Amino acid sequence: MIEPAKSVLSKLVTGREKGTEQSIKSLFESDQNRFNDYSANCGDILFDYSKNNIDRETRELLFQLADAADVKGRRDALFSGQRINVTENRAVQHMALRHPGDAEVEVDGDDVMPQIKGVLARMGSFSKGVRDGTISGKGGKFTDVVNIGIGGSDLGPVMVTAALAPYHDGPRTHFVSNVDGADISQVLSAVRAETTLFVIASKTFTTQETMTNAQTARSWFVEQCGEAAVRDHFVALSTALDKTSEFGIDDERAFGFWDWVGGRYSVWSAIGLSVMLAVGAEGFDELLAGGHAVDVHFQTASDSENVPLLMALIGIYHRNVCGYPSHAVLPYDQHLHRFAAYLQQLDMESNGKRIGLDGEPIDHDSGPIVWGEPGTNGQHAFYQLIHQGTTVIPADFIIAAIANNPVGDHHEKLAANAFAQTEALMTGKSLQQAHDELMKKGMNDEQAAALAPHKVFPGNRPTNTFVYPKLNPFILGQLIALYEHKVFVQGVIWNINSFDQWGVELGKELAAQLLPMVKNEARIQGRDASTEGLLKTFHAMRE
Ligand code: F6P
Repeated sequence: MIEPAKSVLSKLVTGREKGTEQSIKSLFESDQNRFNDYSANCGDILFDYSKNNIDRETRELLFQLADAADVKGRRDALFSGQRINVTENRAVQHMALRHPGDAEVEVDGDDVMPQIKGVLARMGSFSKGVRDGTISGKGGKFTDVVNIGIGGSDLGPVMVTAALAPYHDGPRTHFVSNVDGADISQVLSAVRAETTLFVIASKTFTTQETMTNAQTARSWFVEQCGEAAVRDHFVALSTALDKTSEFGIDDERAFGFWDWVGGRYSVWSAIGLSVMLAVGAEGFDELLAGGHAVDVHFQTASDSENVPLLMALIGIYHRNVCGYPSHAVLPYDQHLHRFAAYLQQLDMESNGKRIGLDGEPIDHDSGPIVWGEPGTNGQHAFYQLIHQGTTVIPADFIIAAIANNPVGDHHEKLAANAFAQTEALMTGKSLQQAHDELMKKGMNDEQAAALAPHKVFPGNRPTNTFVYPKLNPFILGQLIALYEHKVFVQGVIWNINSFDQWGVELGKELAAQLLPMVKNEARIQGRDASTEGLLKTFHAMRE
């Protein structure tokens, strides 16, 4: 954290240590207008952050923190295409992918819009052809699309296609990511080679998992349809177009993107092809438009209306002032069942860092552990800990006003549960209340006194709530971009590079060294005693 920001942070910490913090409930009691004052809109999305321990003074200090960290200056550097990813010497310009109209967007002084529009147009005509059957395979119209990728080349397309399931009118989509053969076996057993389109998605086209799965899919396909049909059934999405042609993919069937698109920000690029195949080019355009609307909002909304800024600052308060280690994302929207997994990569790969931009270890916490599951399922699994555990877990609740799949009163019940949870987390239940309730149920004083402590909810647990009219491509694009910019702002305040991911390298290097030892016991050497022991046991069990 840079010096001016540190001094604002210490004011926030001192303020909390003084013990003058009011409970969230009492903040509502003393301010009738709190809901209006502590919520903001980004287009049709309402962001309610009133159920946090944040009062006017704290919020003002948080805005000062953002200014002290030069969030606006760094935001402008981001949008102007400067090489802010310093450890990889790259610009970060995924916003250009969703930029509409004819205005120029620069990376290193060059307008990148013509190339973006070129790829988007090719994706559009290819998807249209696949969807209407004018582009077909050996067995006629494609019925199934298998996206093979991992990390950002998987999670974005998986999450978005799941979220937009009600809008699918194209071929069925399947995803293979894990190098565990179970993943590809399951998918291949569910499709027919003659009517399947394989989409090999990899920014680098070198990732072990993806290339292994791609080769397996290719061999499986060739066995059934022959080598000559590969050109019609395989497409590639990559920045490494030399490697895609080596794999045997026709240049016509390769859709490129650029090094200034980070993997976890790439669903807006050619990596989104499987989304476009599922929902059509118009649906994909709507997704992009939603993302762009948030780019404009982030750059123009005032601090108190700026949703990604507010999301980030509340997160900083929880992490660096309160010391909360994790953050839950709880969509009450079944179609968002992969949203938390998607955000794990976005947030934890971006901000799970311990070295600052100055190359020195940072002296404060950075990214929290991000996790979650859709409500109401989570309520019957881990909410116990959120309500009564020893760790406070701030959570984002996400709900649509209108269901995509209206069935009876399901949606009303879903919404009632979402609102009930945030209320319960805030208000809690005192010992006296618990005791009185048990007495009313017919227990005697002794029985009630014994059980009541277990029924106490401390409350005062912070939540944010997002409400939007209905999950559609535009709203989804907004939601994703809101979290992207939240992560950006937090990275700026922590003074780390949110756009590299060196932490994934060591495991990859060691896996490459260990592979020969896993394949051949005689080659085991030079490892620590535990690893050697594990390798030997592995071999013994396989005999
Ligand atoms: O996990 C590391 C990572 O580099 C991610 O950042 C990326 O999304 C993923 O691997 C996949 O990389 P690629 O698209 O190059 O196959």
